[in-house]
Amino acid sequence: MIALYPGSFDPITYGHLDIIERASLMFDELVVAILNNPQKQPTFDAVQRQQQIELAIAHLTNTRVTHFPGLTVDCARQHKAQVIIRGLRVLSDFEHELQMAHTNKTLAAEIETIFLATSNEYSFLSSSAVREIARLGGPIAHLVPTHVITDLKAIWA
Ligand code: PNS
Repeated sequence: MIALYPGSFDPITYGHLDIIERASLMFDELVVAILNNPQKQPTFDAVQRQQQIELAIAHLTNTRVTHFPGLTVDCARQHKAQVIIRGLRVLSDFEHELQMAHTNKTLAAEIETIFLATSNEYSFLSSSAVREIARLGGPIAHLVPTHVITDLKAIWA
């Protein structure tokens, strides 16, 4: 079975990587898909984000990365994915995630959304927090891979 893990990944964090590694064990193939969140203006373009993810998942043989300009369900169909994976960190994630899952179900009844609970140590982590800490010169080595730190430093250098 093929699963799609959609998100903004702006940039990828160890929280995302935790979900990717665990999902890659559950499915034959995993496609990490960079999509547009209309509520967010990305810091990194899609090509940069794809490179950041590709470097971070080089050790996973059944996982690849793509970016897609349209709907998550259309991306899933293009990759023949029957499942959409989303990570849940805290209760406040749930309402929006459930709404997205229901909306996606109305658009593509054949595709299921499965939620994975984020590992405890990453339950506080978000790309926006990483960007903010990096911008203000704080430490982020425990939050994102080394190559992402380099990319973040290049923005605010
Ligand atoms: O990492 P994010 O920002 O929480 O990911 C949200 C994302 C990109 C998965 C969501 O905004 C999305 O699915 N965007 C694609 C457009 C779409 O399919 N919209 C309908 C779903 S409600």
